[in-house]
Amino acid sequence: MLEIRDLHVSSDNKEILKGVSLKINPGEIHVLMGPNGSGKSSLSLALMGHPRYKITSGKIILDRKDITVLTPDKRAKAGLFLAMQYPVAVPGVSVTNFLRSSLRNLKANVAPAEFVKITKEKMAALKIDESFATRSINDGFSGGEKKKMEVLQLSVLQPKYAVLDETDSGLDVDALKLVAEGIKKTSGPKIGILLITHYQRILKYIKPDFVHILIDGKIVKSGGHKLAERIEEEGYANKS
Ligand SMILES: Nc1ncnc2c1ncn2[C@@H]1O[C@H](COP(=O)(O)OP(=O)(O)O)[C@@H](O)[C@H]1O
Ligand SMILES: [Mg+2]
Repeated sequence: MLEIRDLHVSSDNKEILKGVSLKINPGEIHVLMGPNGSGKSSLSLALMGHPRYKITSGKIILDRKDITVLTPDKRAKAGLFLAMQYPVAVPGVSVTNFLRSSLRNLKANVAPAEFVKITKEKMAALKIDESFATRSINDGFSGGEKKKMEVLQLSVLQPKYAVLDETDSGLDVDALKLVAEGIKKTSGPKIGILLITHYQRILKYIKPDFVHILIDGKIVKSGGHKLAERIEEEGYANKS
């Protein structure tokens, strides 16, 4: 289980998260919604160990291991994955090299032929052209291509817990469908997912088990997938 226990997070001395608690079991899909600036991305970055997002109190427990003070690479090794809202370009590091070295660092070595087979399959499923394999990761990619790249990483790396920060944002209908299917195919009994989104539209493809509403650094309401529908209709007002 990934357990977030009463997490308080500050950045530049400003308190952003004011006591967030969540329990995500393998096999569960949790959706986190909330207005702009409520702290969703700060939560995802603090979970992954971004140095600018200081955990001032509370804990993050991953499969009984306290990862609250671990470095991002150790958190990744423990099984945590983050798809960032704004994926970072790494000029000079190709998609293939990035995936291969990530896989090697996080998991046992995969035979080269097997690696090529897996990445080809996953790229085809996401309709990412083969030419992307040799391009620098996210360098000059369009918004939609970056989001697909995050899902490619997710599906190749197969983490235990994945936080997906607005992976559905800025996608046209076809890309949204591919991204949603990619997430759905990766999800399953062994992985727990925290899907941060603004929109109901991805929930047409992915049925969440739980929906949480974050407002001003606090989860003010939790419920089932119907809660997401209500937010779409009524907005965030009066949800606390
Ligand atoms: N590094 C930072 N320094 C100061 N304030 C920050 C920093 N990062 C985020 N914030 C502020 O924290 C709040 C939450 O931001 P964010 O987590 O990006 O919200 P969301 O993802 O829900 O839109 C915003 O008011 C934002 O301006
Ligand atoms: Mg955000």
